Amino acid sequence: MTIENAADIRILGVGKTFGQGENAVRAIGDATLDMQRGDFISLLGPSGCGKTTLLRIIAGLERPSEGEIIVRNRSVWENGKRSAAATRPISMMFQEARLFPWFTVAENVALPLRLRGVSKAEREERAHVLCETVGLKGFENVRPSALSGGMRQRASLARALITEPQVLLLDEPFGALDAMTRDTLNMELMSVCAKANVTTILVTHSITEAAFLSDRVVVLAARPARITEVVEMPFERPRTLDLQRNAEFQDMLLRLRASLTGDH
Ligand SMILES: Nc1ncnc2c1ncn2[C@@H]1O[C@H](COP(=O)(O)OP(=O)(O)O)[C@@H](O)[C@H]1O
Ligand SMILES: [Mg+2]
Repeated sequence: MTIENAADIRILGVGKTFGQGENAVRAIGDATLDMQRGDFISLLGPSGCGKTTLLRIIAGLERPSEGEIIVRNRSVWENGKRSAAATRPISMMFQEARLFPWFTVAENVALPLRLRGVSKAEREERAHVLCETVGLKGFENVRPSALSGGMRQRASLARALITEPQVLLLDEPFGALDAMTRDTLNMELMSVCAKANVTTILVTHSITEAAFLSDRVVVLAARPARITEVVEMPFERPRTLDLQRNAEFQDMLLRLRASLTGDH
């Protein structure tokens, strides 16, 4: 295997149990998955099937009970300890924007650079470029309270991208938005991810969002938490919102729905 097609992220037999004995909760069981650089995959599954737990393990925030995560040939967890070097290229985004209310949009976006000691001039320049990329031009100097929910998520996305991560982990980032805002942000996320060639894992409850954005959709089931199926999305890129009206796409939604309910 050459370096170019070596897997970017390898999830190898990862399992997680919280608690012990009678109180033990099996949050995720024996998950195995390979992703190539620039892949976009979605995790689709009912509440409580371990999606957030799996993202947290990949991000190095949670220790797996079994198995291994390898990002760019480095193990995220070594002998039960987090390896700092391996987790550095990873950014995460959540359902809530988690912006600091007393900072401006640009200051929020630039915060990861500030924590890394990047100079003020460079931070400001990069934050401005990213604000423009995510459609926040003209809003750099306002506080988050002046923004709509969709714009806050744009700021949150810009903050996740400012460190030029190799891996982007998105935990239901658009779950609280209205359908139209979500469509717009889906289009922008798709173009930003393609441009940055970032390897992306999206957790979502929306079958349409998963099918539209992904190269592959990973279907999970609860009790016991596990991967039940990995489905290829064969739609050409670049994709536009028109794809969602296409018969082949509609068939795929039915197919994914059946897989989710175990009805196939
Ligand atoms: N820190 C924790 N301590 C105990 N149980 C947890 C913890 N985090 C998650 N769980 C449990 O693990 C299971 C999976 O949770 P989670 O990964 O949040 O699922 P999802 O994101 O798919 O809704 C749930 O039953 C949840 O209650
Ligand atoms: Mg969750």
